[in-house]
Amino acid sequence: MIANITLNWPSVIEFGVGKVKTLATHLKDNKRIYFLADPPIMSTIKPLIDELKGHGKEILVSNEVVPEPPFEALEKLLSGVSNFAPDCVVGVGGGSAMDLAKLVAVLFSREQKITEVIGIDQVKRRNVKLITVSTTSGTGSEVTPIAVLTDVANKLKKGVVSKYLVPDVAIVDPALTLSLPPAVTAATGMDAMTHCIETYTNKFSHPIIDNLVIEGVRLLAANLERAVTHGDDLNARTACALGSLYGGLALGPVNTAAVHALAYPLGGEFKISHGVSNSVLLPFVMSFNLPSCVEKYKNIGNALGINCDCADEKIARKAIMKIKELSNACKIPAGLKELGIPENAIPHMAESAMKVTRLLNNNPREVTLKDATAIFQMAYNGVIDL
Ligand SMILES: [Fe+2]
Repeated sequence: MIANITLNWPSVIEFGVGKVKTLATHLKDNKRIYFLADPPIMSTIKPLIDELKGHGKEILVSNEVVPEPPFEALEKLLSGVSNFAPDCVVGVGGGSAMDLAKLVAVLFSREQKITEVIGIDQVKRRNVKLITVSTTSGTGSEVTPIAVLTDVANKLKKGVVSKYLVPDVAIVDPALTLSLPPAVTAATGMDAMTHCIETYTNKFSHPIIDNLVIEGVRLLAANLERAVTHGDDLNARTACALGSLYGGLALGPVNTAAVHALAYPLGGEFKISHGVSNSVLLPFVMSFNLPSCVEKYKNIGNALGINCDCADEKIARKAIMKIKELSNACKIPAGLKELGIPENAIPHMAESAMKVTRLLNNNPREVTLKDATAIFQMAYNGVIDL
């Protein structure tokens, strides 16, 4: 029996090289526009901003995007934008810029405080248009109902999940990713790969999503290393952008699982970037999940390019190794030790990860505190034993 599903996606998704030019059209009916843009992308959108001003529109621009944004960064943005009262918010950049823009769009009216919207379906409404323009291929934030903040005091990542965070328009222009440095391409690409794998093997997976994300795995496996080593290869960049978009489209209806849950304390406590945290943990969580996922890992193995006339379980194991090899080829550190995380932090990290129940509940195999500790322990040295 096929399960019911709700697909709450942006009304318009503009995908393709040059699509950033459609932004002007999507803003034609707006009068007061707030842009939140990653600083490196400002030169790209400045001509558009000048053009909009020339048409008599009021524009407010902020570049105050902090990676893995803490509550305080959002508060600062809100105090700058509340008096401006925009009728449209545009987030241009990577996951942090888009997440912050999404939260500004629902919170600038000050009807609710930041702490009141943490969790699932706590946002009351959004009264303004919201547009996202992604400049990395990884987070999927341009199409998701999710935004993540860092609770510095408690050293935890906190998620806001709401249909009001789904943008009206999402623009994915692979040309905007051409200048990304290799390390960012690698980390965001492996985040996208994690989205595809965690939604495909999810306890709440669905055929509509399965078809997208297995193709996402194929695209990313075939093109990510090339995009890392040859950043100017527009074909590789476009394939990674599409793989990332597929992963992003899966996050609202299905969402991630134990990899993302265990990655939270790496970001919250040790400021390890989201993509690197996921990439380091992915093969170890896959190894833990293997008993529950043999057939699906076999399909992932096929999408990763593994074709051997052998038993499903062998292909499944090869798939895990292939993910580890891809991460290595992208020059992402192998384990927690290499990331500078002390071994004695593991018990506390495991306890923190166990609090991320909204994601752990999606995992195909139940994760106990003992399991989480064992997974971190395996990931410490970064050597996988299959
Ligand atoms: Fe992610």
